[in-house]
Amino acid sequence: MTKTEAATRIQKLREQINDYRHHYHVLDESTMSEAAADSLKHELSVLETAYPELITADSPTQRVAGAVLSGFQSVAHAGRMLSLNDVFSRAEVEAWVGRTHKLLSPKEVARAEYFADIKMDGLACSLVYEDGLLVRGVTRGDGLVGEDVTANIRTIESIPLTLRQTADADAFLAGRTEVRGEIVMYKADFTALNAVREAEGQALFANPRNTAAGTIRQLDPSLVAGRKLHFRAYDLIRDDLAEVPSNSYAYQALRSLGFLVNTQSQIFTDLDALMGFVQHWDEARKKLVFNTDGLVVKLNDRAVYARLGVVGKAPRAAIAYKFAAEQATTVLEDIRVSIGRTGAVTPYAVLTPVSIAGSTVSRATLHNEDEIRRKDLRIGDTVIIQKAGDIIPEVMESLPKLRTGSERVFVMPTQIDGIAVVRPEGEAVARLADLTVGEVRWQQLIHFVSKAAFDIDGLGERTLAGLIEEGLVERSVDIFKLTAEDLLNLEGFAAVSAAKLVDSILAHRTVTLSRFIYALGIRHVGDKTATDVARHFRSLGQFRVADPAQFDSIDGVGGVVASSLASWLGEATNQVLIDDLLSAGVVVTDEAAPVTGKLTGTTWVLTGTLPSLSREAASEIIERQGGKTAGSVSARTSYVLAGEEAGSKLAKARALGIAILDEAAFIQLTGS
Ligand code: IVH
Repeated sequence: MTKTEAATRIQKLREQINDYRHHYHVLDESTMSEAAADSLKHELSVLETAYPELITADSPTQRVAGAVLSGFQSVAHAGRMLSLNDVFSRAEVEAWVGRTHKLLSPKEVARAEYFADIKMDGLACSLVYEDGLLVRGVTRGDGLVGEDVTANIRTIESIPLTLRQTADADAFLAGRTEVRGEIVMYKADFTALNAVREAEGQALFANPRNTAAGTIRQLDPSLVAGRKLHFRAYDLIRDDLAEVPSNSYAYQALRSLGFLVNTQSQIFTDLDALMGFVQHWDEARKKLVFNTDGLVVKLNDRAVYARLGVVGKAPRAAIAYKFAAEQATTVLEDIRVSIGRTGAVTPYAVLTPVSIAGSTVSRATLHNEDEIRRKDLRIGDTVIIQKAGDIIPEVMESLPKLRTGSERVFVMPTQIDGIAVVRPEGEAVARLADLTVGEVRWQQLIHFVSKAAFDIDGLGERTLAGLIEEGLVERSVDIFKLTAEDLLNLEGFAAVSAAKLVDSILAHRTVTLSRFIYALGIRHVGDKTATDVARHFRSLGQFRVADPAQFDSIDGVGGVVASSLASWLGEATNQVLIDDLLSAGVVVTDEAAPVTGKLTGTTWVLTGTLPSLSREAASEIIERQGGKTAGSVSARTSYVLAGEEAGSKLAKARALGIAILDEAAFIQLTGS
């Protein structure tokens, strides 16, 4: 990016972020997730770091959140309440460590300890004690001047009004002691509070942090007392720095003085272990009683910490590691289309790779043209991407304010490789008009030989491509007409390998009806549906002449699937294909009727170790008598067969009131 381009981008980002802030802080409206806004802020600060000459005093990066409210006395902090710079990856932690090392002596580097703690999502507050007595509580405000909220914070039970006298920290009982920490509302209390408000028809609060912040700024302390807030300390400040030699010592002393301190904090000396801690809490944070969006990592030695000083509004010796957010912003570089086995033409997003929820995202489906229009996505747009857990990434929306004018609207191609793209009236999906050529034919053939269909091993993608190229295979049926001589024309085939593949094809000509139906590649018919349909008709003869109305009555087959099956069979060319396959030697065996027995209609979950039966043996007994087995307990589970050391499945079964059998009862029930 050139400097001019950076300047334009910086300007656009500032406008977008300011717009977000105004809506969020003034109008109480949310125009995008905090994660998406953070992502934009991060991009801005990266650009400003690269081009410091472009930083202006009014940039959102230069602003410290919060302003003094009238109604409270303004109080200047003895020492500025700083913020932290955010990092999002191991590489950024490494870069920070590298920067700090340059400012340390070799001896200090060798001894360096990193003190990590959970970063609480609340509001920062400074408490001042004189000779052990609480004299003042002040909000962070702009970092330099905050609001005197002493009357309010005195109602918070976890704030000691006098410091506890204990032998190991009594030095702090004399003179001025400042304790800084976070005021938080616990998740459960927040939920309960909102439930009451909902019942009373009052407006709901947005999140625990906003609620805690709003509460602390109430002018009536009795209202504060009614809301359950907690103070968790993270900093202990004395005029004489030497009295608090390390951050870990500060935590110990704070605990002795009577403060609530996070028990999760830990000292690290190596990066791998620190990153392990990050990974652990990224997942485990869900179980914390309060919200967190990351960790705080500081150099443990306070003399070094102080010496390293401050850049901007953040100490050099500390960072905030932000957990992978589930949303981020990136650039939609292009919109391309992919072609599916059934001819569907699906647009997808090509994105500037962005790290989100722990993985890098560079592609995302856009579903169809209408979706693209509804979300107003243009090629070149900055977009918000969301990825929650294992869910596939999704493009949520575009940020039109960041447009430069060079963005392009996506148009669905009217043809691909000479094949027309059509969109039937009333359908969302565009399709190729001819399914017997090109990419679709290719996908269909791959599907035809795949594991769950004809399962022809030895006929891999490369061989198939060669066969198509040589004109030896056009339709699936051609596979069964291949001879060893044909194959010798292909690269990589010699007499032995050619004979081997022909044998393999011969050996796989016989399939069950369910495999056959699946192999046909009918829209919406996956292997489960194919099995349901096959079990219903039992024979190919019955299936191919089925009355369309019959499909609707099959268990597990819905309207869309039924009409897809009916229209496929109604097509003359498809009936010809079936005939051709049979003439080429394909044998379709009747589908075995599902076993019926004593256990028909029941679903079983096996857990723990049984005294004599193996799991396989028990499953076989169940299936032989018509029952099904499943991996997890749900309301649909009929029985749980439990042995020794059965764990969570058993507990869940108990909770759901599901019948639990031991081996003896099982043997008695099944008569085995
Ligand atoms: S240490 C320079 N430890 O995060 C400030 N801060 O972005 C270093 N916070 O304003 C403070 N949990 O209010 C520290 N365990 C923790 C924290 C924590 C939350 C807040 C704090 C500060 C902000 C920095």
